[in-house]
Amino acid sequence: MKISFDAKTAKAQAMVIFAEEGGKLFPSGKALDKKTKGAIGRAMKAENFQGKAGQVVVATAPSGVSYSHVAVLGLGKKDFSAATCEKMGGNIVACLNARKVTNAVVDFSFGLGLESESLVALGAVLSSYRFDKYRTKEPKDKKPTLKSLSFVVADAAAARKSFADLRKTADAVFLARDLISEAPNVLYPESFANIIKAELSPLGIEVNILSRKDMEKLGMGSLLAVAQGSDREGKLVTMHYKGGTKNQRNIAFVGKGVTFDTGGISIKPAASMDEMKFDMAGAAAVVGAMKSLASRGVAANVVGVVGLVENMPSGNAYRPGDILTSMSGQTIEVLNTDAEGRLVLADALWYCQEKFNPTHIVDLATLTGAVIIALGHEYAAVFCNDNDFSEELVTAGLAVGEELWPMPLNDAWDKAIDSPVADMKNIGGGRDAGSATAAHFLKRFIKNGVKWAHLDIAGVAWAYKDRISVPKGAAAFGVRLLDRYVNDIISK
Ligand code: BES
Ligand code: MN
Ligand code: ZN
Repeated sequence: MKISFDAKTAKAQAMVIFAEEGGKLFPSGKALDKKTKGAIGRAMKAENFQGKAGQVVVATAPSGVSYSHVAVLGLGKKDFSAATCEKMGGNIVACLNARKVTNAVVDFSFGLGLESESLVALGAVLSSYRFDKYRTKEPKDKKPTLKSLSFVVADAAAARKSFADLRKTADAVFLARDLISEAPNVLYPESFANIIKAELSPLGIEVNILSRKDMEKLGMGSLLAVAQGSDREGKLVTMHYKGGTKNQRNIAFVGKGVTFDTGGISIKPAASMDEMKFDMAGAAAVVGAMKSLASRGVAANVVGVVGLVENMPSGNAYRPGDILTSMSGQTIEVLNTDAEGRLVLADALWYCQEKFNPTHIVDLATLTGAVIIALGHEYAAVFCNDNDFSEELVTAGLAVGEELWPMPLNDAWDKAIDSPVADMKNIGGGRDAGSATAAHFLKRFIKNGVKWAHLDIAGVAWAYKDRISVPKGAAAFGVRLLDRYVNDIISK
């Protein structure tokens, strides 16, 4: 979608204007209504338009103007929170697509404010995402028509500048959504790693791909055990972005990248198993966040690490009962091969700390079904060993509509993963606190003094219905949150 900002109204197929609560038009809207000989006012009246937030009325082919449509959007009680603005952008796109409009002018000459204007544009862009590369026979009239939006604003230069950064983040969100949506026969560890390199190297990020041999040398027996059942070799990819100075935080993002999770020998039921293509959404979020930060040139030092594997049952697959030696030296008794994400992260987290010495780590993983029982699809869980750090992440998430809910750590859940034959087992005793026992498993791979947050995104990685700025499908949850977090802390 092409977005432009101008001081004057450009020529376009359709016009979008606004009305206050009660249905009152702004001066430019009133002038337009006059030109149309009252067609806009009549349409508003006919549909009992109240100017409520999200309410839309459209005058079709009004006489006296060149527009095929004039849409009036209600501003309601003028709550211009980020979420409302983004939603407005989504509403504009939906209403214009429904009428087969290809380009339109959005009249913000009444003065919505710089930040809000660019958030509306962001909402328009993000809500227009579609993964349709494999739909070769979709009729043209079923495809969305809207290609460009031109916003009339008071200070066009300032709006362009403010939107430029948001656009880069949106592009990064789209990359993550493409990765998550991609079919698992096409996106597997090697192809995923190649895409990361192709996307991020040109941005000045140092990308390194570790092969199975490399990981064997490093003793990553935990990650490699999960990978061994697949014909497709596992990979570990590091992304190093050096945009900051020495005395800043050393931030690391670590992502679970299981490109397909069958459950392995502890195989999952057939129903909905296809959904497990999104078991790499944590890794995709890391890649997206790295892209956003680097393309925006943010002054921070950030490293991304993703463990990429396919969890398959086969003659060479790891088994329940296997005892693994992780890179940290700690041993793990496997009791369920479907609790694989933590095994991948164990080595990815350890390698990240050995190699990059981060002060702060955020890991993102579609780790447990249990988190969906706890928080549904509204929040990701955050488990964190530092309250201030946790709060910074919660705040960043709130600002961008990717909400986190803090969950407790407790020594009892650490004990729950003690094993009689190894240092730990990869599942807790029963079904109790499944997300917390998983978090405590990861915690055993965090070095003393490192601030660490674990985001369990199993419930939010995929949108099962349209949400603000997130059309049904791959959400790319985490890209905007991580980008925002880094942005917030460097200005501290
Ligand atoms: N990838 C799944 C978790 C998941 C479930 C993500 C649903 C998204 C939607 C993970 O690897 C898994 O299978 N976890 C098991 C852990 C159990 C065996 C302890 C689970 O949650 O059932
Ligand atoms: Mn699993
Ligand atoms: Zn999984």
